[in-house]
Amino acid sequence: AQTTVKISEPEDEVIISKHIYGHFSEHLGRCIYDGLYVGQESAIPNQDGVRSDIIDALIDLKIPNLRWPGGCFADTYHWKDGVGPREDRPTMVNRWWGGVTEDNSFGTHDFLNLCETLGAEPYLAANVGSSSVQEFTEYVEYVLHKGGSPMAEWRKEHGREKPWAVKYWGVGNEMWGCGGNMTAEHYANVYRQYATFMTDWTNSDGLFRIASGANVDDYHWTEVLMRDIPKSLIEGVALHSYSFVEWNEKGSSVDYSEEQYFSTMKTALMMDELIVNHTAIMDKYDPENEIALVVDEWGGWYEVMEGTNPGFLYQQNTMRDAMIAGTTLNIFNNHADRVKMANLAQTVNVLQAVVLTEGEKMLLTPTYHVMKMYNVHQDATLLPVSFDGPTYEFEGESLPAISASASKNKDGEVHVSLVNIDAHKSHTVNLSVEQFGAKNLTGTILSSKDLQDHNSFESPEMIAPKELKSIKVKKGVVEIELPPFSVLVLKA
Ligand code: AHR
Repeated sequence: AQTTVKISEPEDEVIISKHIYGHFSEHLGRCIYDGLYVGQESAIPNQDGVRSDIIDALIDLKIPNLRWPGGCFADTYHWKDGVGPREDRPTMVNRWWGGVTEDNSFGTHDFLNLCETLGAEPYLAANVGSSSVQEFTEYVEYVLHKGGSPMAEWRKEHGREKPWAVKYWGVGNEMWGCGGNMTAEHYANVYRQYATFMTDWTNSDGLFRIASGANVDDYHWTEVLMRDIPKSLIEGVALHSYSFVEWNEKGSSVDYSEEQYFSTMKTALMMDELIVNHTAIMDKYDPENEIALVVDEWGGWYEVMEGTNPGFLYQQNTMRDAMIAGTTLNIFNNHADRVKMANLAQTVNVLQAVVLTEGEKMLLTPTYHVMKMYNVHQDATLLPVSFDGPTYEFEGESLPAISASASKNKDGEVHVSLVNIDAHKSHTVNLSVEQFGAKNLTGTILSSKDLQDHNSFESPEMIAPKELKSIKVKKGVVEIELPPFSVLVLKA
């Protein structure tokens, strides 16, 4: 069967914020320590303790923003413990993630300097659950005040003269759960209090304050925040939604069944409905759309049997993750009018990581490749796509097999992303591109025959994008075959 995909000119211009392609790194498992950060004394090449190979990979990815230090860790984190001479920093217990000790050697200076190196905007998730308004506002002052204030002078003593440019601030994380098990009503009040005392000491274009948002389809949470928080105090509402796969008997995140894959894709595709429903509530209270939806945690989460996980939430990233990434990013692109930021969980070694490390070795995961292929959409104008797609059938249930999104960048180049999640069938797409006048299309494909295929430290390039041969446009249409488990980005 053939599917015709049409691309139209938008009625209103919507820019796909580059921040939809953001990332998240938490003090969890081997994400920061023995991952991103190895320390200056390490034999592994590093820049101020951060692995140089990871820095290069993230720059190549055009990472637009990075969220830190959590996650659940954020609401246990006392920022003052992580500044000043390392030998004077206290040790704490990472209570959410295994009770391991945390010596605070990677702190605020390390993170914010790293963001400068990466050319990425920092997104600080600050402690509300176990902190105070004073601790929080001193943090804002430490990071943003030019000089003359107690916190700015303290920062200077620690070697940083200029303030950092931090626009994005999360006011707590998962306040319905690890952030304090609060009710929405209580958190809305707490949020108002914290946000009131946050000052934009840079006098630039204002802080972007993000309220800790709903878990998946907790619409009541969004309703209460939108109802109870005055618009003058908030710029974004968060949402967390993961695509879970229950652990299987083999206890591995590679060996799993098609049934598990199908259910993962079902939850991944639910992102569309979640965005529609949460933003409908937001629109009710904010018809001018001044408040953004920020999906600051998303990705695949494979629960493995206790004791079989080689590192906290370490999971092998396979072609299924490429499918999650491709479809989810298409959903975000298509809702770019309301989704202004999203953060994949998490950058290194944890959950749907883009980079895995083992000793001095590092590999790029299929998810990394999808994110890199898609970065052509960053800050481009969204072009609406329409099609009547084929379905992926499994044991009497069906899901849309194909997903798509398109954009036009400042140079007039049109990019179309197509994903086929079908485990068995190729699908042929007729893409009508007549209006763009292109004679040929070029493109890149990421594909592999088996769902479980992945890059390993022994063969780190088994899954890598391949350039497509130039495709001829015939009577304004190109015919493209999408193999099972494939992600394509085409350029007209
Ligand atoms: O990303 C892992 C955890 O998932 C985060 O710490 C928390 O916010 C979420 O539940």
